[in-house]
Amino acid sequence: MKESQPSTIYLKDYKVPPFLIDKTELTFDLDETTTVVTSRLHMRRNPASGKSTEPLVLDGGEDVKLIGLAMDDYALPPEEYRISEGKLIITATADEFVLTCETLIEPQNNTRLEGLYRSSSMFCTQCEAEGFRHITYYLDRPDVMSVFTTTIIADEARYPVMLSNGNQVEKGKTEEGKTFVVWHDPFPKPAYLFALVAGDLAVKNDSFVTQSEREVTLQIFTEPHNLDKVDYAMEALKRSMRWDEEAYGREYDLDIFMIVAVDDFNMGAMENKGLNIFNSSCLLASPETTTDDSYLRVEAIVAHEYFHNWSGNRVTCRDWFQLSLKEGFTVFRDQTFSADMHSEIVKRVEDVSFLRTAQFAEDAGPMSHPVRPASFIEISNFYTLTIYEKGAEIVRMVHTLLGAEKFRAGSDLYFDRHDGQAVTCDDFITAMQDSSGVDLTLFKRWYSQAGTPVVTATDEFDSASGTYRLTMKQQTPATKNQPTTLPLHIPVRVGLLDTSGKVLTSALSGSTSEEHVLHLNSSEQTFEFTGLTSKPVPSLLRGFSAPVKLHYDYSTSDLLLLMSSDTDGFNRWSAAQQIAVNELTMLINQSIAGESLSLESQLVKGFKALLSDESLDPAMVALILTLPSQAYLSELANPIHPAAIKEARQYLKTLLANALSGEFELLYNKHNIQGEYQATAEDIAHRSLKNTALSYWVETNSDQAHQATFEQFRTANNMTDQFSALSIAVHSNNAKATDMLAAFYEQWKAEPLVVNKWLMLSASQDSSDAVASVKALMEHTAFDLKNPNKVRSVLGGFGQSISGFHNEDGSGYHFLADQIILLNSRNPQIASRLCTPLTRWKKMEAKRSEKMKAELERILAQDLSKDVYEVVSKSLA
Ligand code: PHE
Ligand code: ZN
Repeated sequence: MKESQPSTIYLKDYKVPPFLIDKTELTFDLDETTTVVTSRLHMRRNPASGKSTEPLVLDGGEDVKLIGLAMDDYALPPEEYRISEGKLIITATADEFVLTCETLIEPQNNTRLEGLYRSSSMFCTQCEAEGFRHITYYLDRPDVMSVFTTTIIADEARYPVMLSNGNQVEKGKTEEGKTFVVWHDPFPKPAYLFALVAGDLAVKNDSFVTQSEREVTLQIFTEPHNLDKVDYAMEALKRSMRWDEEAYGREYDLDIFMIVAVDDFNMGAMENKGLNIFNSSCLLASPETTTDDSYLRVEAIVAHEYFHNWSGNRVTCRDWFQLSLKEGFTVFRDQTFSADMHSEIVKRVEDVSFLRTAQFAEDAGPMSHPVRPASFIEISNFYTLTIYEKGAEIVRMVHTLLGAEKFRAGSDLYFDRHDGQAVTCDDFITAMQDSSGVDLTLFKRWYSQAGTPVVTATDEFDSASGTYRLTMKQQTPATKNQPTTLPLHIPVRVGLLDTSGKVLTSALSGSTSEEHVLHLNSSEQTFEFTGLTSKPVPSLLRGFSAPVKLHYDYSTSDLLLLMSSDTDGFNRWSAAQQIAVNELTMLINQSIAGESLSLESQLVKGFKALLSDESLDPAMVALILTLPSQAYLSELANPIHPAAIKEARQYLKTLLANALSGEFELLYNKHNIQGEYQATAEDIAHRSLKNTALSYWVETNSDQAHQATFEQFRTANNMTDQFSALSIAVHSNNAKATDMLAAFYEQWKAEPLVVNKWLMLSASQDSSDAVASVKALMEHTAFDLKNPNKVRSVLGGFGQSISGFHNEDGSGYHFLADQIILLNSRNPQIASRLCTPLTRWKKMEAKRSEKMKAELERILAQDLSKDVYEVVSKSLA
């Protein structure tokens, strides 16, 4: 362990920057061995800071070597500056000056993938959150916004494409015969939005005419062999640009918008001004190599990054504690966009199931934090589901509380009021409040309080007066870091049904309607619905109107009723999930008690009714048929018994498959549509239902089902069907599974993104020697420890293997810890993310829990990056 531990940064310590940088002029002399960066920073003291003597402290990194420093063109002598802990400190400055700084960096040795680095044959950058300081000394904080001019010098033969933010304004030859290009971005921006790319890239050109009839050039750059996979992203980009004009009145502002795909990237994609950089897995798509899920992901991420141009770039964050200001809002925007492009309910179900599985688990674990954290050690650790997904839920609740029209007015006011500024989550809510007149004072608590609120509902019916009383209590669990918790303002959308499934109209505080939004804003409240003749069945929290855990003592017949008759599609799904959770919980308990499993399943009835309802969207049917995942059941359990959960799921799935085998076979054949692949909602829905049906049908272990799986694998004209068949074969012990996996690799070994899917599936296989298999996979030529996608595929896949990762002897945990230690020094961000499954140790059943803890302790004894240190030390605290 290090002698001194990394320090914590607090929101309460925020101070305005003592200096401003009006203009930033950068010159990059790119080279395979040493790259020289020259910056000319036009600086002045910040009048708002009020201090006139403070030294100038610039952020830098150990990997940046200072080779020249001048103020107003006078070289600074060594006694006038010093470098300490990566920072450059200049004791005395004028009120206004130009600082010239020359640094030497080695992008070719940059394995952290922050700052300037190499991916395949190109140079590229990643500066969010604090990557820019690995390029040159700077005031690397989002409230320092500057106008950037960037000159790139390189050998044109190897780097014919040289890109940066804004517009290209000049191109020429240097005295040494190298090529230079100059880019200028007229919009002031923080350094985290800076980007540079140089390489031998192919480009797809297109254009878009904005609502005010300006023509914008659109370009997507990739390595030449991938150019045939960018058409879908380009169309998605144009749809996003149109949608942002129509839904939010936001028009694009530069004359050119560029996207570059790179293979080595820590995250999904990055919204750099005018020059988005994407993980190739989030951009490239073709029917043969890309599944439906990935198509939808490409569209959503292209939209997300594009939407950041307003929610993030034109209006940015004051400090990193405000990260959800841009991420929560932008996720909400991309979710709504996808809902508009496809199906609103399907999208909502997918988003909620992700939130309830992963964000709820995060919020109940040691890294739990408010949507606006109060402190952090390493900001990279806070690109979390809480900031993104729960942040989006907060914005969605504002939308519910204000209604669509007032929400739009609030958004207009926010953009208008804060254009060109770096602001806070409070500023966002204030704009929403000012424009609508809706009081959001209490609501703001959602930003500062961590944890998932538990809402408990009870009810009674007074037949004499026809009054239905619904009492709701709320409680956010207290934790060591948050010993007192307070009530939140929770919007609860509610409808009432009679016992035949008919929708009821009721009156609540003077308004008569089929649906009401309850404002639960204290620890206990009773709502009185009048005008009823018998006790209704409540449909609560429709559309998942708030990110809470709702408890209401539904009978199975109530749930079956909601599942078949609720007018809220989301709650039909939710009711089915609840029946499944209840039945699985019984089975899990039997398994833990060592009993043999047995169940009189009511879900069979629900599924039968579902399958006979022709009016439903096949995509919804597929979702309702999908049993709660291992991960979701783990989130609900305390303690977690991974093997029992697996056994229970398997038992219920087989039971349903046998009870409805004829139905599943029919369903499979009915939705097995052939024809040219299209990533439309309609076709995706059919494929999804077909493959869900197949996954049940094979559980009957019929030869026909196994044969159908094999045939689908062999003849599919698209990756969705081929890969579904392969996964089903692998997880159902199809006799041909091993051969199919091998054939799949042979067929696709030249397509890295497909190979990653193969790596993931191979690593997820359950077998007694899973640890040995995953080690072998990491020796395979298809693996590369430097590539985050491959690491995520193999170790992410391995995490799903119950006999592998969760092997009782602890070998799986030990193996993961080894990889974390290995990656800690190479790529701290990736290493830190890999810790997540181990951080859940406190919720694990005793035997496994101890072994996980021991591995965390072993990691903590190493010399750690800030990233890994923060996660591991907080997990053990
Ligand atoms: N800001 C990016 C996004 O959400 C995510 C990201 C963060 C990418 C940090 C790289 C590094 O769209
Ligand atoms: Zn984002």
